Amino acid sequence: MTEQSTVTLTTATPVTLPDAQTVTEVEHYTDSLFRFRVTRPASLRFRSGEFVMIGLMSDLDPVTGKQKPLLRAYSIASPAWDDTLQFYSIKVKDGPLTSKLQHIKPGDQVILRPKPVGTLVHDALTPAKRIWFFSTGTGIAPFASLLREPETYERFEQVILTHSCRDLAELKFGQELVEETKNDILVGEEAQSKLIYYPTTTREPSAKMGRITTVLEDGTLFADLKIADFNAENDRAMVCGSMGLNTDMKRILEAYGLREGANSDPGDYVIEKAFVG
Ligand code: A2P
Repeated sequence: MTEQSTVTLTTATPVTLPDAQTVTEVEHYTDSLFRFRVTRPASLRFRSGEFVMIGLMSDLDPVTGKQKPLLRAYSIASPAWDDTLQFYSIKVKDGPLTSKLQHIKPGDQVILRPKPVGTLVHDALTPAKRIWFFSTGTGIAPFASLLREPETYERFEQVILTHSCRDLAELKFGQELVEETKNDILVGEEAQSKLIYYPTTTREPSAKMGRITTVLEDGTLFADLKIADFNAENDRAMVCGSMGLNTDMKRILEAYGLREGANSDPGDYVIEKAFVG
């Protein structure tokens, strides 16, 4: 469904915003990280873990006098059954989109192109015992969706979320997410018995320090979780983070014998880069 509505942007020029959705909630975690919720288009169907294009109109081009949509890929950080759509975003001072997006308030409008896609979906993985969600920074967003998706607990006996950030303040939205998931009316009970949360920081001291790749390769992760048998028979993985994380995790998972999957060819693990908003 394409909705049309009139909004007033910072340029004070009323424009018609295509695919407009209304912001319902905004929370800032740090000076570089925030989350927001928007209304859900009535016709939008998506699979938990997918992403959509989100944006605002650009400033007026001084030459052409026109504005154009500034869009970036954002993972939907709420489950497929939710009434509203949640997103996590970084704030980049000179970022074309996030320098503006970070100022949105409830009642404002954003553009949301209703064409969800992505590889971090259950359809891309074959059945197994455990699912691992490996994330850094805002790469946790698709897992915020999948953790509240009942299918995750139907398909797996154990669900392990790892989240690495530079400092403790950046871990906060993951901590809130895990708390909410364990209290969720739909999946809370299952999550309490199946969900394991493993946060690490890499620059600020915390209970567990180090890159997830380091603690995985040196055996600390498995020792902490008392897991002795990580392999292609028991384990499935989804990875979402920086290019570095994705490249390193691909190498590590393949060394354990896991095979990359896709929507058209389900496998043992899938990877998607955390999008820069
Ligand atoms: P580090 O602090 O050691 O670079 P960023 O804020 O740069 O997006 O990074 C988010 C988190 O991802 C940081 O904790 C960072 O650790 C970590 N990280 C970056 N590259 C990798 C990688 N190749 N493998 C694992 N973790 C990584």
